[in-house]
Amino acid sequence: MLKQKLILLVFAVLRTIAPIIKFGNKYFVFGYDDVTEVLQRNTDFTIKEINQPKIDKYTGPFILGMDKSDQEASESSILQKAVKRDDIELIQSIVRDVSRELVEKARPKGTIDMVSELSLVVPCHFLDKYCGTPGPDLQTMQRWMRSIFYNVFLNFKNTPTQVKEAEQASAELKIYLENLILEKQKAIKEGIYTKDDFLSRLIRMQDNPETYLDNDGIRRNISGVILGAVDTISKSAVHIMEQLLSRPDILKGAVKAAQNNDYDLVSRYTFEAMRFNPFNPILIRYIEKETTLGTRTLKGGNQIFSVAWSAMFDSKAFPDPNTFRLDRVYETYILFGWGMHRCFGEYVNRIELPEICMALLKLPNLRRVKGSEGKTIYDTTGTFPDRYVLEFDN
Ligand code: HEM
Repeated sequence: MLKQKLILLVFAVLRTIAPIIKFGNKYFVFGYDDVTEVLQRNTDFTIKEINQPKIDKYTGPFILGMDKSDQEASESSILQKAVKRDDIELIQSIVRDVSRELVEKARPKGTIDMVSELSLVVPCHFLDKYCGTPGPDLQTMQRWMRSIFYNVFLNFKNTPTQVKEAEQASAELKIYLENLILEKQKAIKEGIYTKDDFLSRLIRMQDNPETYLDNDGIRRNISGVILGAVDTISKSAVHIMEQLLSRPDILKGAVKAAQNNDYDLVSRYTFEAMRFNPFNPILIRYIEKETTLGTRTLKGGNQIFSVAWSAMFDSKAFPDPNTFRLDRVYETYILFGWGMHRCFGEYVNRIELPEICMALLKLPNLRRVKGSEGKTIYDTTGTFPDRYVLEFDN
């Protein structure tokens, strides 16, 4: 927490004295208006140079690696059409039931490792029940998702061990999805498969030329969607609980809201807590050719780092930014991106994160474990939580 406070202090200084700075071939932008403008101006600040090569390699072309183009417009519209109005209630019941079940399972022990027993399990359940992609088993799905996600978005140094693991994971996922699509296609045609999940919707949508994706198109798109749906949720849930547990007065309010089943209020606690340690502190784009941002001229051929974390502490958009407040306007948060590439799964996150937290907050006298056992343990890359044990009265 001390480290986070220090980072926030540095951001505050930079927003005042150097809101746009250049280090080597990278610009850094810290203010709310500039950060949102960069993400909004998607033809001046592009994503292809940042994401496309690795996305193409590990899943095949996907919207998060594409700038404005016919393919991007068509595929993102097909994905949107595969989401239905009633999905909110469906997702809520899927994640609420499994979160409660998992927490109940841990209850007799008086402790829960919220990562291995909850926050990494719930998203896989979501992949199974909503997306229609259960994977061969839970462990394999978790391994594939983590390894590919890390290498596409975070392995900036291309460390060979991780690259090798992701190449293997991506080859296995490809075969798995190719077979799954063929099996479902056959079962749908024969009238045996009548369930309505995200993958089967994309298959049924092949009947309409306007929403047709060939099988590889379905595979690429479903890969891209599920990839962002596991460790993002798990790590964010850990960050949120860490923030709540480190503020006893705030925690009391959050517990009360959970006990009252006040989902809207728990959501406010959830997203405000996430602001203090977001999953995506920075969103990266590329400056194709010289352009301006405010009064500043930015040279082409450089990357631009939009520091969303800092922007969410800019008092212009977040009055009294260092205070944990429950009256923030949800739409001002930059927790799930901004502009054209804003998170496709935001409707899921708005349910899944509060539901995971709600299930935990209901545990009697939920608290951190003292000493080293209570610390969050990260994976070998130091990126994703593997373990975060919490205590409660049973
Ligand atoms: C806490 C969980 C999540 C976080 C923090 C998160 C964060 C983000 C962010 C910041 C972006 C934009 C990246 C950029 O502009 O460079 C994004 C895009 C995206 N996310 Fe999420 N995400 C989460 C969960 C999900 C879930 C559950 C799904 C799928 C159901 C998903 C699917 C996607 C997709 C497909 C995009 C690309 C959208 C596009 O390019 O148009 N995400 N996410």
